[in-house]
Amino acid sequence: MSRILDGKAVAASVKEKVGAGVAELKEEGISVGLAVILVGDDPASKIYVENKKKACEAVGIKSFQYVLDKSTSEGELLSLISDLNGEKSVNGILCQLPLPEHIDEQKVIAAISPEKDVDAFNISNVGRIMIGNFDFLPCTPAGIIEILDNYNIDIEGKNCVVIGRSNIVGKPMAMLLMHRNGTVTVCHSKTKNLAEITSKADILVSSVGKANFVTADMVKEGAVVIDVGMNRVGGKLYGDVCFDEVANKASYITPVPGGVGPMTISMLMKNTLTAAKRQNGR
Ligand code: GUN
Repeated sequence: MSRILDGKAVAASVKEKVGAGVAELKEEGISVGLAVILVGDDPASKIYVENKKKACEAVGIKSFQYVLDKSTSEGELLSLISDLNGEKSVNGILCQLPLPEHIDEQKVIAAISPEKDVDAFNISNVGRIMIGNFDFLPCTPAGIIEILDNYNIDIEGKNCVVIGRSNIVGKPMAMLLMHRNGTVTVCHSKTKNLAEITSKADILVSSVGKANFVTADMVKEGAVVIDVGMNRVGGKLYGDVCFDEVANKASYITPVPGGVGPMTISMLMKNTLTAAKRQNGR
């Protein structure tokens, strides 16, 4: 039976450190602010945005919420971002994805000032991550590395397999594992012999978005299994991994909920604090 990687506990300790950092800046007369923009009424996005607001309150970061109607034009959204780029009390800007279809997501990401891009989605931040010279890391992959570090799970020399190649998770995850000297394979929907590849993984990260996708036959005995999936089925939340059967085989596993999810928001708080420090010459 595997050990549970308790993302909730690791996230709480990250938040505690961020809270202390925010308090330190406050003593110097600097307040930290995060602007969160939600366009439309996607139910999952609404929950995420609400959780981000609560996390800000918990660590002493001022949150500025912009909830815009789904009919908001691309121009209106770009204009709001331009205003926030120039607003001194706003250190970080996050525009919740996905956006309504009539808005070009890449254009919006590109409009956020790289210094305030706490998602690290802007191409200049993506490029900086690729060469290993960065201020911010994207929240989900950074949260996963934080969990591995917290449990002293070594990445160097390990066979790391990432399922999923999104800009938000898969690609940056591969990059961060490479920075830590992992040997990385990225699989995706067109990969042939998926199970053959995943069953060689010492560290397996699944970011597919399909409940029960990763079964025990795809996992090596003693592997570390990280489940990024957040799949709502009949009102209940499931990861990508068949938890019970894989837990019998893995050495460590993240649960859903309570694994990667809570880390993502904590890393966002950390990035916002970093942004505030950089913008104030620290
Ligand atoms: N939608 C799902 N995950 C994320 C995220 O990490 N950041 C933003 N902005 N939108 C998301």
